[in-house]
Amino acid sequence: MRFTYECCDCGATYETNEVFYQCPKCAKENDGTSFPKGNVIVKLNEEDLQKLSKQEHVSMYDFFPYPVPDKDVYPVGGTPLATPKRLSKKYKLKNLVCKLDSALPSGSFKDRASQLIAAQAIHHNQNKIALASTGNAGAAMSCAGAAYGLEIVLFVPETAPINKLMQSVLYGATVVPVKGTYDDAFALSIAYTKEFGGINRNTAYNPMTIEGKKSVSIELFEQLGRNVPDVMYVPVGDGCIYAGVYKGFYDLLQAGLIEKVPYLVCAQSKQSNAISSAWKTGNFTNLPKATTRADSISVESPANGRMAVRYIKESEGWATEVEDSEILDSQLELAKEAGIFVEPAAACAWAALRKDSDMLVERFGEDVKVCCLLTGTGFKDMAVFQGSVSIPEAIENSTEAVHERFS
Ligand SMILES: Cc1ncc(COP(=O)(O)O)c(C=O)c1O
Repeated sequence: MRFTYECCDCGATYETNEVFYQCPKCAKENDGTSFPKGNVIVKLNEEDLQKLSKQEHVSMYDFFPYPVPDKDVYPVGGTPLATPKRLSKKYKLKNLVCKLDSALPSGSFKDRASQLIAAQAIHHNQNKIALASTGNAGAAMSCAGAAYGLEIVLFVPETAPINKLMQSVLYGATVVPVKGTYDDAFALSIAYTKEFGGINRNTAYNPMTIEGKKSVSIELFEQLGRNVPDVMYVPVGDGCIYAGVYKGFYDLLQAGLIEKVPYLVCAQSKQSNAISSAWKTGNFTNLPKATTRADSISVESPANGRMAVRYIKESEGWATEVEDSEILDSQLELAKEAGIFVEPAAACAWAALRKDSDMLVERFGEDVKVCCLLTGTGFKDMAVFQGSVSIPEAIENSTEAVHERFS
């Protein structure tokens, strides 16, 4: 599909066949104290979009700026929709669905972006991709690299959860732990690609990350019988997934396939609420310190914060903040009462949704269609249960011991 780029901040448009990252004019203003400027939006050609309205079915690939080669090499998409019966009843939400993106190849939503970045690299005859990550994006890109035979160079804060780092090492990436924050790793990975070449996959910095992530909304549209939810909950750190979800619905709207973008809810931890605060106050200053235990959404300077705030407004959505204790409790509730095991960042979406449940019914009625986007599997971070959940002691290998244990 044909496309151009538009700066999210100044609206300047750019037409190029080369790999393009940011609006040079706005990016120059970035001084590290507030949310970065200069991220660009991929604008799909309107004529091409209109053609899609005539198709009986659409797939995410119809909306991608680059063709994805050998899709089954790295099978991304088609994640299940769970209808968690017990939770529906408990929170009086008849039409509740959970989109299980924890079922993607590397165990997180980030496979969606990594698939398109791999396609971008292959299209431009590049064999190397560098990025910074809190863990999941790195694991996803490394997974794609292994599948397609691409070299992956990954900068991560040394404090990233061990399972996510191990995953990337196992997939064969060059992992560079950094004695610093995610923001530091972000800057170093950009310095790396400037000096040593390759595509940079940093979230939102490379606009194709948002294009890849939008696939979830297009997939959901078909899964729901060419329909979209009224309200959708998205866990937010940098605001790139949120922007991707919005963009998918926006493209469907532009193609004339839906009438309204769903109300998109930005779910954040109170201990990492940069985007939520900016939406409320209009102030884009970085947080002094993000301290949430949900590592994937712990962000002080959200890389896509400005675009996310804009999209909260454009979708007529809102931000819901929750305590870390509510996130961890929600994680256990999803496991015990729905059989859905996710990492804390993903559970943040559920924590916000259940917090809003009465309000949703009051505002939209009991038939409100709500979707909770669950972005990462619980196996990613088992350390979170240390001290709160433990395995019972072993019993002796005897029927007496069984009797004793249960009487
Ligand atoms: C599992 C999971 N959920 C949510 C997020 C938040 O996405 P974003 O940083 O784009 O807001 C991330 C990002 O790393 C993630 O890995």
